[in-house]
Amino acid sequence: MRTKLSVNLNKVALVRNSRGQNFPDLIKVAKDCENFGADGITIHPRPDQRHARYQDIHDLKEVVKTELNIEGFPTERFLEEVIKAKPHQCTLVPDPPGALTSNSGWDTIQHKQFLKPIVKKLKQEGIRVSLFMNPELDPIKQVPEIGADRIELYTGKYATVEEGDDRELEKHIRSAQLAEELGLGLNAGHDLNLNNLLKYNRAISNLSEVSIGHALVVDSLYYGLQNTIQLYQRLLRT
Ligand code: PXP
Repeated sequence: MRTKLSVNLNKVALVRNSRGQNFPDLIKVAKDCENFGADGITIHPRPDQRHARYQDIHDLKEVVKTELNIEGFPTERFLEEVIKAKPHQCTLVPDPPGALTSNSGWDTIQHKQFLKPIVKKLKQEGIRVSLFMNPELDPIKQVPEIGADRIELYTGKYATVEEGDDRELEKHIRSAQLAEELGLGLNAGHDLNLNNLLKYNRAISNLSEVSIGHALVVDSLYYGLQNTIQLYQRLLRT
């Protein structure tokens, strides 16, 4: 199974918003990413809409030919927009509204009753649901009861460990095995980059998708968007 690359366009939206005009055009960038080899497009609209906006969900849904993944904390507004647009996948993230970025997965023990009806509703609308999770076994064991199809493992800590220290990666390997035993699909994301992706993807055989934004946009400044997407895809296909 080949791991798919979903390109997170939040940082492109941030540059667009900084001048109050439609430049860069997020829709054009999404189409170009697909033409350059991306397997999917992700955005993460936050309540203050400082990067991706709710309208972007609908505009992207019109043009994305691969897979559209919408991430976010399930506020009423977020769910309303996602259900209206019906992306292929919705990744629920436990960000508090003012968070700079996502830095932890769900506490599925504490939030089980909150998540269950939300997941059910999204699935009834035909949307695949993924839950952003830390690589910890007990919270992952709760996911089948909550009803999500997949989990997305938070790789932020993996990305910051010293070279040669494989303890965090081992947690991901165990979590990935558990996900497989539980019949859950597996995604991963956060702080993945050209230096740490190959090792991660090689270690985790059931990895369906990575979503990568920040590093990929920064790499594009140096290598260009087309080369950068191909560099990431080369790592995923090695
Ligand atoms: N997955 C989730 C749930 C995220 O919130 C983000 C950041 O928006 C990413 C993946 C991508 O992280 P990065 O921008 O560091 O590649």
